[in-house]
Amino acid sequence: MCVFDAYGTLFDLSGISRSVRAELGERADTLMRVWRRRQLEISWLPLRPGAGADFWRVTDEALDFAMNSIGLDDPRLRLRLMEGWLTPSPYPEVVETLARLRAMGCSTAILSNGSARMIGGAVAAAGMADSLDAVLSAEAVGRFKPDPLVYNLAATHFGLAPESVCFVSANAWDVSGAAAFGFQVVWINRDNTPAEKTPQGTRATAADLAGLPAILGG
Ligand code: LAC
Repeated sequence: MCVFDAYGTLFDLSGISRSVRAELGERADTLMRVWRRRQLEISWLPLRPGAGADFWRVTDEALDFAMNSIGLDDPRLRLRLMEGWLTPSPYPEVVETLARLRAMGCSTAILSNGSARMIGGAVAAAGMADSLDAVLSAEAVGRFKPDPLVYNLAATHFGLAPESVCFVSANAWDVSGAAAFGFQVVWINRDNTPAEKTPQGTRATAADLAGLPAILGG
């Protein structure tokens, strides 16, 4: 059983900044970097009472911060940026790797902080629905990763003990959280982050998903 993080692991967020590069030039990359960082920071804060785990709202709030940080005020561009989260492209090796894993008899699922609408939109836009046994959103338990309740959602959905699940993420904090929960974890280190930063509990590291079938013995 392989459970995947979504953003940065299966889906490439760089297309969102590329979509506004004509207007913003190099500021598009700064905006995206600040936006993503702020989005994650907000998701790590204690949740507001009654707010639920709404990653769309978190993303929206983070975008205000990121646009302010580069002095940008453009409602049409803002809308386009938000909508980018509904149709991010998968990394080139993703669809084929999911097929190879399933041919090995390995079930596949997404476990993401993204809301059901965000993740469902991304999966549908990429034509990946048939490649996945489940698409699970943190929204269902009202918490964000790295809260153990979210990792538990995947384990209970498949009725598996944590150690029977291979969790795959490109986000170091997610790798640490999943390993602390008891998953076996593969860290996708796309940016070749220095080895000393290897997150705690990593079973294996790969540059992208293509290495996964070999890691899992296929
Ligand atoms: C995810 C983001 C946070 O859970 O990477 O998909």
